[in-house]
Amino acid sequence: MININDRLKNVADFILESDAKYIIDVGCDHALLDIYLFQCNNKLQIIASDINKGPLLKAKENLLKYYCFDKIKLQLSDGISEIKDNTDTIVISGMGMETILEILTKDKKNINNVKRLIISSNNKYESLRLKICNLGFFINKEKIVYEDGKYYIIIEFIKGNFKYSKQQFYFGPCLLKNKDELFYKYYLGIKKEKENILNNIPIIYRKKRNLLIEEIKMLTLETS
Ligand SMILES: C[S@@+](CC[C@H](N)C(=O)[O-])C[C@H]1O[C@@H](n2cnc3c(N)ncnc32)[C@H](O)[C@@H]1O
Repeated sequence: MININDRLKNVADFILESDAKYIIDVGCDHALLDIYLFQCNNKLQIIASDINKGPLLKAKENLLKYYCFDKIKLQLSDGISEIKDNTDTIVISGMGMETILEILTKDKKNINNVKRLIISSNNKYESLRLKICNLGFFINKEKIVYEDGKYYIIIEFIKGNFKYSKQQFYFGPCLLKNKDELFYKYYLGIKKEKENILNNIPIIYRKKRNLLIEEIKMLTLETS
């Protein structure tokens, strides 16, 4: 069995625990996630895609090494521009929020038939949730993963609509509901960061300070 890091293993679990069948991994890089997925469930139809040739060469080497070169399709493509009609699940992992949103919005019509997005961004989760929900998805599942001194949030979006509050977009509706140990660690860390920023903003920047004070109040409320 291929050895992958905890973040990717958790992304894989989101897929393996769903009814996903036809998957595209956008920005597959080394394709380690795809090899792991195939080893766990050889019925999955997986396309590992990347915009760059270098990562795809690395992916090819790995597919050959793990005997799945003829099982997982490699595709050189920008985002979801070449997505197949039967794709039910898009995975985008290990990129920043802006790149993820650009990929999804540039070829918006290509997500019409897609049921599920599994997204693991590196940053800006509030905007990510809000903007992907505005594309016609709701949040079905979320998990915080801590690896190598960094927190990652994995989110499963499903086609459909739901109205969320500001708090739900900020903290994540599922994370807010379950509040596990990592929730407290992650958001208490953010609260500390915001308090440090506030302490360094001169009093004359009232508007900026007030926004931060509100944010810290919300963080205090949900983490105490
Ligand atoms: C940091 S790696 C992430 C690899 C892997 N998905 C992970 O989670 O570890 C980002 C990859 O996304 C690819 N990429 C960036 N923009 C892309 C786009 N618009 N379409 C497809 N791939 C893209 C890069 O070439 C790179 O291989």
